[in-house]
Amino acid sequence: PGEREELKARIRRLLRERDAVMVSHYYVHPDLQDLAEENGGLVSDSLEMARFGRDHAARTLVVSGVRFMGETSKILSPDKRVLMPDLDANCSLDLGCPADAFSAFCDAHPDRTVVVYANTSAAVKARADWLVTSSCALDVVRALHADGQKILWAPDRHLGDYIRRETGADMVSWQGACIVHDEFKALELELLIKDHPAARVLVHPESPADVIALADAVGSTSAILNAARQMDAKEFIVATDTGMLHKLRTLNPGKTFIEAPTSGNGATCKSCAHCPWMAMNGLAGVAHALETGAGEVQVDPALGLRARVPIDRMLAFTA
Ligand code: 13P
Ligand code: SF4
Repeated sequence: PGEREELKARIRRLLRERDAVMVSHYYVHPDLQDLAEENGGLVSDSLEMARFGRDHAARTLVVSGVRFMGETSKILSPDKRVLMPDLDANCSLDLGCPADAFSAFCDAHPDRTVVVYANTSAAVKARADWLVTSSCALDVVRALHADGQKILWAPDRHLGDYIRRETGADMVSWQGACIVHDEFKALELELLIKDHPAARVLVHPESPADVIALADAVGSTSAILNAARQMDAKEFIVATDTGMLHKLRTLNPGKTFIEAPTSGNGATCKSCAHCPWMAMNGLAGVAHALETGAGEVQVDPALGLRARVPIDRMLAFTA
């Protein structure tokens, strides 16, 4: 605890000295969430992280999350310095959708509007007509479908299938997956629901269809938090990264949150539903980045300009 407190004090001092603000995702360590909030920064979902970084006056943004979040911040604020505690923090969706193969996929479907999930590289975003996060994906595709457009979706297959089921849009989809949410198991979840019949089930839409089918609320990390605050229940089962439990519990002291099962053998795996890349973010990395400038996110300016077009469209749509 002594070392942790010393690191936190160092970070607070460095944030002031370097004209910096912290932007953290709900899945990173509670220390990084609390530090962001206590020092004028933000803890939120990927959509609001992007907007906050763009609009904040600080010269330096410290983005705790995964690479695409830092890249999106840099694309929206090319003149700011964007630092990450660990630049190797990636995402299976980003890694599973290389720009060259994705470009060939788009070339094979020239009649389709390209809608890309935020969890992608700058090069993939540069090929998109629209960017979406899970908090606006349904509304964007619904609007495009109402306009008669056919969709090419990438890269998360579960989120894509969910959007297709909900909107009825004509979609072809890349077949990527989130290694964390892909592991939630419907059969085990049903057993858990039987043990907790009064519990409400909150599910992130990167989860498989049979898990989503058991949900009382489906949505982004922010939507899950809102549902937990608004629903009149005492117990909740949560199918998303366990990092989310920190905010769920601190904002809902009278309610109980239970992790959804990721194991198919009857045992709840306590640490499976935690993103290994989100876990790479730590206090030491933040302090080191602020002190030395290590972990600075670089995006080729010309590529950034192209990638910004679909991101701006999303931010205007959700403003
Ligand atoms: P949100 O946009 O819901 O924050 O999700 C980001 C993410 O990486 C989920 O796994
Ligand atoms: Fe990517 Fe899944 Fe990790 Fe989110 S939880 S950053 S989608 S691997």
